Amino acid sequence: MGIDTPETRARMGGLALKRIVYDEDQVAARVAEMGAAITEAYPADEELLVLGLLKGSFIFLADLVRQIERPLYVDFLVASSYGSSTTSSGEVRLLYDPEADLEGKHVLLVEDIIDSGTTLNRLVPLLEERRPRSLELCALLHKRIAKELVREPRWVGFDAPSEFLIGYGLDFSENYRNLPFVASL
Ligand code: IMP
Ligand code: MG
Repeated sequence: MGIDTPETRARMGGLALKRIVYDEDQVAARVAEMGAAITEAYPADEELLVLGLLKGSFIFLADLVRQIERPLYVDFLVASSYGSSTTSSGEVRLLYDPEADLEGKHVLLVEDIIDSGTTLNRLVPLLEERRPRSLELCALLHKRIAKELVREPRWVGFDAPSEFLIGYGLDFSENYRNLPFVASL
């Protein structure tokens, strides 16, 4: 799908995209590399829980877990740091807690994008309290503008430009998650 094709226009409801930042092939290739690296990183006989941060990570997580060639569990948590604007409010609320017990498991927290870092800085200590065997972060996109992160992500798909990005799960006011690439508005 391209920047100005009928398929893209149908998903954009008439709005124009600025540019495609990472196209479908680039994303797929990078996700495959990340899946291979994650497969390598964990001992095969130890439990791995892949924890997706909803909603933005749902497409990335779906593609990523299919590139991880080992047994794993999937669960989700929902935190909210953005209203419907494109600037961070600085406030993070936990709206849904994972059902899975984290204790003793390797936990891989999967994020769509790290922007200010507020979400991760708030979540990492909360998850650490549950005594996982390890806690690592994996983000598809990292804007590298966060002043201070309590933990650097171990796996990052792309160092993203500090523009507002949509598609491949990322939204603007809940729209455009269904674009198959990452684009700027
Ligand atoms: P942070 O707490 O500022 O690091 O922001 C993290 C969350 O804000 C991400 O999980 C996204 O849901 C959202 N976000 C940050 N930047 C963008 C963007 O460029 N496009 C869409 N959502 C974003
Ligand atoms: Mg969002």
